[in-house]
Amino acid sequence: MYNIKFIKKKLKEENNFRLKHTLSVKDAALELAKIYNEDKNKTEIAALLHDFAKPYNKKELYEIINKNKISVDRWERAIPVLLHAPVGAFLAKKLFDIKDKNILNAIRYHTIGRPQMSTLEKIIFVADIIEPGRDFPGVELIRKNSKKDLDTSVKLVCDFTIKYNIDKNRMIHPNTLLIRNEILEGEW
Ligand SMILES: [Fe+2]
Ligand SMILES: [Fe+2]
Repeated sequence: MYNIKFIKKKLKEENNFRLKHTLSVKDAALELAKIYNEDKNKTEIAALLHDFAKPYNKKELYEIINKNKISVDRWERAIPVLLHAPVGAFLAKKLFDIKDKNILNAIRYHTIGRPQMSTLEKIIFVADIIEPGRDFPGVELIRKNSKKDLDTSVKLVCDFTIKYNIDKNRMIHPNTLLIRNEILEGEW
């Protein structure tokens, strides 16, 4: 049982500009945890810490990664917006003494996802996108679907990410395609 009060205090002390988003993700994730029988405490911690490294800029993120030899793949390195996830997992372990692999992986993979995600990983991946502050075409469909089926909700998040990045002419992390294929394969 981790100390959620301490984490919340720390988040406020840091004056985290993402605090509103973080708290909304926490609420959305807890709602999903109830539906999909996930541990409440683990869900809350993963949600509260998922964007902990978000305030760091690109240079700072690279510095932390290099100094601590955090493992990131070439596509994550090439798409800096993704780097707060591995750094967030590192800081969760270092600053908050989070040892639970499932929590750390939920933070680590909340941006790119990965094949064979755990229920907690899927919950954070989806909650990040459906929290009430998000407003994009199709978000309502994902919100509604998230109450019925977690896997197809993960696929819908991948669909959104792929389309969004194509429209912006940006790179797509291969994990997004791998997860999407995996879910579609499972459906047939
Ligand atoms: Fe994030
Ligand atoms: Fe987030």
